Amino acid sequence: MNYFETLKFGSHKLKSNNINTHMLDSELLLSYVLKLSREQVLVNLDRNMYKGKFNLFKKLLSRRERKEPIAYIINKKEFWKNNFYINRNVLIPRPETEIIVEEVLNIIKTNSSKNILEIGTGSGCIIISILKERVNCFATAIDISKKAINIAKFNAKMHHLSNKINLKNIDIDKIHYNKYDFIISNPPYIKKFNISRLDESVKFFEPYIALEAGIDGLREIKKIIIKSNELLKKNGKLIFEIGDNQVMVVKKILNQNGYYIEKVINDISSIPRVIISTKIN
Ligand SMILES: C[S@@+](CC[C@H](N)C(=O)[O-])C[C@H]1O[C@@H](n2cnc3c(N)ncnc32)[C@H](O)[C@@H]1O
Repeated sequence: MNYFETLKFGSHKLKSNNINTHMLDSELLLSYVLKLSREQVLVNLDRNMYKGKFNLFKKLLSRRERKEPIAYIINKKEFWKNNFYINRNVLIPRPETEIIVEEVLNIIKTNSSKNILEIGTGSGCIIISILKERVNCFATAIDISKKAINIAKFNAKMHHLSNKINLKNIDIDKIHYNKYDFIISNPPYIKKFNISRLDESVKFFEPYIALEAGIDGLREIKKIIIKSNELLKKNGKLIFEIGDNQVMVVKKILNQNGYYIEKVINDISSIPRVIISTKIN
């Protein structure tokens, strides 16, 4: 079998398992198996496959057929301008979360030095993306999951930022010191009873602790807002992602806790996704 026939074989198998991205996924899995870029695979379609590589490809296909996300199979996800190591201990970085990076980079001038706290860092994708472009800033990034912190440490090292980010395995409830210019977060925000309605690739594979946020989906957001009052400098910025239909209630909680709402940014589906607020007292 050559690469072309292998890709067709993979795409057909995934399609018959109702995977819409069957062609792309087949290409991604084959390039992972061959240790080549997708482009290199596509310009060498007449090359023959070794049996061992084909067997590995079939193994990975069967994981994808069971709806395991590609990022967990190939241990990699692109976010903003960089690649990150990913496994099932961390949420797969989402494109809408790039809004946080974009907005922080808009606010912090290129050479300025700011102290940033990230709550719930997961793979570290947000804070690493920011620090790569704002070299005079430094950060603390926390996560309640020790396994997630280990992955964030790995990614920080891979991006040569270990000396700029203090990564801590700690619950937001337990952090009490220091004052930050910025607090950023993509917290869990799914209502407990909506977890079962999520796509199979999410609910059966991504960490529950990264998704679930109590009966109203606001458990962690409320903690972040209240805690940030203590941890932010005056006029410091609190910037975080919210779930569908949460914008009104979250704005209200922010106002009640002494924040001024600067901006709400919609995602590409026009859903309010990121809130930027300033601590005014
Ligand atoms: C939605 S994920 C976001 C991960 C990553 N920042 C991203 O955007 O891809 C939320 C993260 O918050 C962490 N987390 C949940 N509850 C927490 C808490 N009380 N204190 C600190 N981290 C928490 C989870 O372990 C998870 O890694």
